[in-house]
Amino acid sequence: MFAETRLGAADLIWPLFVAEGDRAGSPVGSLPGVSRWSIDAIVERGREARDLGIPCVALFPDTPRDLRSDDGAEALSPDNLVCRAIAALKDAVPEVGVLADVALDPYTSHGHDGLVDDDGRVLNDRTVEVLALQALVLARAGADIVAPSDMMDGRVAAIRGMLERDGHGDVQIMAYAAKYASAFYGPFRDAVGSGSRLKGSKSTYQMDPANGDEALREVAMDLAEGADSVIVKPGLPYLDIVRRVRERFEVPVFAYAVSGEYAMIEAAAAAGAGDRDAMVMETLIAFRRAGATGVLTYHAPLAARLLAEAR
Ligand code: PBG
Repeated sequence: MFAETRLGAADLIWPLFVAEGDRAGSPVGSLPGVSRWSIDAIVERGREARDLGIPCVALFPDTPRDLRSDDGAEALSPDNLVCRAIAALKDAVPEVGVLADVALDPYTSHGHDGLVDDDGRVLNDRTVEVLALQALVLARAGADIVAPSDMMDGRVAAIRGMLERDGHGDVQIMAYAAKYASAFYGPFRDAVGSGSRLKGSKSTYQMDPANGDEALREVAMDLAEGADSVIVKPGLPYLDIVRRVRERFEVPVFAYAVSGEYAMIEAAAAAGAGDRDAMVMETLIAFRRAGATGVLTYHAPLAARLLAEAR
């Protein structure tokens, strides 16, 4: 009765990896308990989410090798892996929301989120044009929310404009506004196969972990450009940012408990250093206490099951 904060399955977004061919069904080595799913299996996960009361899933494709290129053109194909997964999900379980990432890293041969010049430096403005087209392709496939995770400047305005012109005024933009250049993304890059390809670092476009005020400027920009909600990422090391964003802006703010955070808890539990379920639930309530509206977490189905059992 006196608890100041509550956590429910409705606060969770479940990130899922989609694959095809021989990668479908393969476990992600650095994320124990997480697999890349075929489109059929993704639909099963969608039903599982619905039954557990999880309102939304986030999709990330492990694009087949031969479809990756310097310009990431596969991102714009209406028939690409993630578009087929979105359509299958919206067909089978329309009541579960689908969030689709906007960024080129699962499609580029160099693993960067955008187009790069000969020196490997990301080209902001040319990338923004491609991202707007990618968002359009995702919206046409049926995505309820598009989530630009690329950190280019000006992309939210370009995406919003593109969606409006094509009659997708009701597709939301959840902007990865405060996304840090983090060492905690390793297992994710493993899962989508971009890590071993990555040349250089993403620190020219992702944020410096030393900066907090800058996160507020990034959020202000994305909101001014038309974002409906924002993401702070990673999660646990950035609870102060969640709190500051929440206090400054009255918009939904989501925390992304990223792959490396999931892996840390799993590794600690496997080493006997703590009780996994308890660590998961404590971290999730901490996100809520810090002010997060909801949390993107690979532990979503586990947490939802634990919450149901507790009831
Ligand atoms: C890429 C993207 C990344 C994540 C989500 N979208 C990785 C990156 O920026 O390199 C990371 C998520 C995670 O680690 O769980 N645009």
